[in-house]
Amino acid sequence: MIDRLWSKFVKPSSDTDHNLAADNVPEHVAIIMDGNGRWAKSRGLPRISGHHSGMKAVKQITMAADRLGVKYLTLYAFSTENWKRPKAEVDFLMRLPQEFLAIELDELIANNVQVRVMGHREALPEYTIAPLEEAIAKTASNTGLILNFALNYGSRKEMTDAVKLIAEAVRDGQLTPEQIDESIIEERLFTSGMPDPDLLIRTSGELRLSNFMLWQLAYSEMWFTDVYWPDFSENHFYEAIAEYQRRARRYGGL
Ligand code: FPP
Repeated sequence: MIDRLWSKFVKPSSDTDHNLAADNVPEHVAIIMDGNGRWAKSRGLPRISGHHSGMKAVKQITMAADRLGVKYLTLYAFSTENWKRPKAEVDFLMRLPQEFLAIELDELIANNVQVRVMGHREALPEYTIAPLEEAIAKTASNTGLILNFALNYGSRKEMTDAVKLIAEAVRDGQLTPEQIDESIIEERLFTSGMPDPDLLIRTSGELRLSNFMLWQLAYSEMWFTDVYWPDFSENHFYEAIAEYQRRARRYGGL
């Protein structure tokens, strides 16, 4: 039902249930979607069924973020460390973008959502890359929510690659060491041109960053919940936004 209603939703100026202020919605929300395996285990199901249900939560939260007027939603879908998992689980995770986009791309387009991916292309199979590239191309001119998948993403590798690019520019005489400032580094990260996340959400009760956006999260507000990702609903998302709106962001000032 809710799937069919997606394109008909009118964006509310505020969420009355949670008294969300329309003028203080985070511009960029980043989410570490954790707990799929434990969600499945607690139901006596294989881990992959947790990932499959997690895909449905991706849809729900994308819809909620869009309705709320969030501009960027970055989702940690696969880390550079996730390759250590059993091959069957990795293969399943690599197939999810294809399945997700086969079901949802038309709705994403109808809702003016722009799909992006950040991460290391190498090692990603063609069946993962091809549908994502198609989605990126078909949504490139959309001006609504930017749905940014972090796929084969590792923050330390992202920063290491940026350092290499800067070293090469210095070696080639295009840059002097004195010219290196934060913007020079930011321009060489996957998130170049994007604002830093205002809010980081991590599900499943784990309280760590797991190599996710270490540079970009410097001043983000963090919100943790024990809820496993497949159970993470629109209401949980609103709860996180409501808590964000109660925080005073000082960026090191007073
Ligand atoms: C962490 O839970 C989750 C992942 C490694 C995969 C996240 C992927 C999705 C939610 C689906 C992505 C959907 C698309 C469309 C790309 P875990 O397996 O580490 O859970 P556990 O800590 O309970 O074992």
